[in-house]
Amino acid sequence: MNLADRSDASAAGVVQHVALNIRRIGRVAGAEIPGLDLSKPFGDDVRDAILAALNEHHVLSFPDQNLTDEEQTAFTMRFGEIEGHVAHDHDGKPFPVVHVVSNLDPSGKPTATPRSHGNYFWHSDKSYHDIPSLATILYAIEVPPYGGATQFANMQMAYDELLPEMKEIIEGLNVVHSWEQSRRNSMNKPATQEQIDARPPVTHPIVRTHPDTGKKGVYIGVHASHIDGMEWHEGREILYRLTDLVTQPRFIYTHEWKKNELVMWDNRCLMHRATGDFPQDVYPRVLHRTVIRGTKPY
Ligand code: OGA
Ligand code: MN
Repeated sequence: MNLADRSDASAAGVVQHVALNIRRIGRVAGAEIPGLDLSKPFGDDVRDAILAALNEHHVLSFPDQNLTDEEQTAFTMRFGEIEGHVAHDHDGKPFPVVHVVSNLDPSGKPTATPRSHGNYFWHSDKSYHDIPSLATILYAIEVPPYGGATQFANMQMAYDELLPEMKEIIEGLNVVHSWEQSRRNSMNKPATQEQIDARPPVTHPIVRTHPDTGKKGVYIGVHASHIDGMEWHEGREILYRLTDLVTQPRFIYTHEWKKNELVMWDNRCLMHRATGDFPQDVYPRVLHRTVIRGTKPY
C-alpha cells in the first residue's frame, strides 16, 4: 500500500492520504487503482486525485474492496449529490439509493429473462434527466466465472474522429431524451403514466463539452428520442448513423469484472452497455450501484 506517513486523526478515524497507484488497463479508457481502502475515509487530496484520474482515464477500477451499503454511500457522496432512481424493483417500489443490478429473479435464482433490457443498449446514465449523472459506481458482489463484461465507448475519441461532413451535420443540434421513448428503443414494457409524468422529455446538445476538461464528446444513447426541431425520421436517421460511428470497436473498452472490485465511470464522456454474454440462467451476477448527480450538459 502506498500510504504516505501522514495520518490525520479525525472524528471518523484515521484519514488516508495516498499517492495513487494508477495502472492503465485499456487503450480507449480504463485504469486500475489498487491499494486504496474505500471503506475508510480519505482526504480531499485523495478525492481530487481520483477525480483527476477519472478525467484522464474515464473508467476507474478499485480492486479488492469490502464495502457495506453505508460505506459505498459515503464513498459516493464524496463526489457530489447521490441520485434517486426512477426505475422500480420487482415489488414496484422505487430503488433505494444503493440498489442491486443483477440477473436474479425475485426468488434469488439466476434468470436469462431480465427485468429490463435497457442496459444492453448504448447509453449514458440518466440522460433523460435535465441534470444527468456525473458518474456511476458499481461494486461487484458476485461475478460469473467468465463473460458478463461491461463495455464503454469513448465519446470524445469518437467525436474527434468524425469526418468534417458529419461534424457539420450535427453542429448545433439538440437531442430530446425521454424515458418513455427509451423504453420503446430498448424493447421494454411501456413506461407507466406515473413514470412519464415524473420524467418529462429533456433536451441536451448532441455534442457536449466536458465541464472539467473542456473536451467535446458525442452525447446520445438509448434514451435519445429525436432531434429537436427536425422531422422525426430524419432525426432518427442521424441518431442511428451517429450511434454506428461512435460505437465502432476502436472506440470501445471492454471491462471484465472481478469480484470485490468497485468501478466508477464518467457518464459525461462515455456511453456504456452490459454485454450479458454469460449463461445468465446459471451464474449470478450481482453489483451494487450508486449514481452521482452531475451538471446540466452544454
Ligand atoms: C448501469 C449499467 C451495465 C452492466 O448500471 O448503469 O448500465 O454491465 N450496467 O451491468
Ligand atoms: Mn447504465
